[in-house]
Amino acid sequence: MDKLVIRGGNPLIGTIRVSGAKNAALPAMAAALLTDEPVVLENIPDVRDIQTERKLLESMGAEVELGYGRAHHRTTLCARKLANPEAAYELVKTMRASTLVLGPLVARCGVARVSLPGGCAIGARPIDLHIKGLERLGATITTEHGYVEARAERLRGNQIVFEKITVTGTEDLMMAAALADGLTVMENCAREPEVADLAALLNKMGARIEGAGTSTISIHGVEKLHGARHRIIPDRVEAATFIIAGALSGGDLLVTGCDPHHVTALLQKLEENGVKVRAITSDTVRVEGDGALHASDVTTEEYPGFPTDMQAQYMALTTQAEGTSVITENIFENRFMHAQELVRMGANIKIEGRRAIVRGKTPLSAAAVLASDLRASASLVLAALVAEGETIIDRVYHIDRGYERIEEKLRGVGAQIKRIGEMLPRRGIAEAS
Ligand code: EPZ
Repeated sequence: MDKLVIRGGNPLIGTIRVSGAKNAALPAMAAALLTDEPVVLENIPDVRDIQTERKLLESMGAEVELGYGRAHHRTTLCARKLANPEAAYELVKTMRASTLVLGPLVARCGVARVSLPGGCAIGARPIDLHIKGLERLGATITTEHGYVEARAERLRGNQIVFEKITVTGTEDLMMAAALADGLTVMENCAREPEVADLAALLNKMGARIEGAGTSTISIHGVEKLHGARHRIIPDRVEAATFIIAGALSGGDLLVTGCDPHHVTALLQKLEENGVKVRAITSDTVRVEGDGALHASDVTTEEYPGFPTDMQAQYMALTTQAEGTSVITENIFENRFMHAQELVRMGANIKIEGRRAIVRGKTPLSAAAVLASDLRASASLVLAALVAEGETIIDRVYHIDRGYERIEEKLRGVGAQIKRIGEMLPRRGIAEAS
């Protein structure tokens, strides 16, 4: 398994480019199942979860071309024939977002068999709301042997009120309703930018969706959807990670290729921490850290609140902020695993249920640490950038799930970071772990 070795102390200076959003690309690739025509998606990130999604769609009979570099990070998907509308456990257990094929498959094929995702490091993460929504649209659901099977001659439009705000639940049901007979109105929907991006693609494919990005989404079902071409939005969580890296390292960083509007909650919070950060163009944020950081509390909320996916990275920053910061995690029940690794590096963090109390500023010293999930590993990279000495982060396949070439990007702005382990060709990462 690959490791990252990072020697802390260098301020990050220069320009770092953000890739396309993994969490927008995954539902967009699933949307290709809704038509027998080709769907072309651009700005696809070169990350492990995209490779996993490709394997999943190919296992059903879809054709998936995926090209990076000169191919402009583009994928062409064609689900002309779907011989096997099933998402097997082997793939779903490595990536929960596989459940995003449930809605499209039952809408397109009349049947879908998807492995229940099982547990996850950050919480139980059930898919009961996806299932209840499909039942509201007339699907017959059976769950046995760890699989959920949904069947429907044709889904029927209906009213759906989500008991909890769910991002992929909103996306899954928006895709299912796109081919349903009649009008579906969904309330208490997720408002994340990735939901609006998916709706933009679906409407290019001939769907009739209004209100995506707000709490109420209306979908007028149509008989058939056609192919389309769409550019995926930038990854706001990757952007946030780099912005925090610039603030933590006391650097002067231009984070480009991002959408500053998607990180408003973070920019507002960092200003409270005393960081000089602002959007300087429509796709670039400049962050100038002069080292003096003040503590500030944060509570994770659904969008447009402070995102749970930025919580671990923010915790790394608060270890270097003067004062006490209370971090409350409202979305997932077990998303503080990075805290103990940060404590091993010298941080002063106490966990009390859903709250983490961080007392800073404490010097961090390098240690051998273990990544546990995607954003926890990003938090360890950030801490290592300011720790004294050389930190070794193991199990970096977690970080490769959602960050494209992170060591190359950070090295490009002055970080002392390298990857060690099986030096496989880039494409080989998915197989290596
Ligand atoms: C999406 O996960 C993201 N993944 C996650 O990003 C992100 O952390 C999460 O939204 C919250 O913003 C993708 O978009 C692929 P939820 P999702 O359904 O949709 C509960 C990353 O780091 N819930 O919004 O799975 C659930 O347990 C990943 O890139 C139910 O109870 O999250 C959680 O407590 C990690 N029943 C809350 O709702 C359901 O049927 C929000 O989950 C569905 C969800």
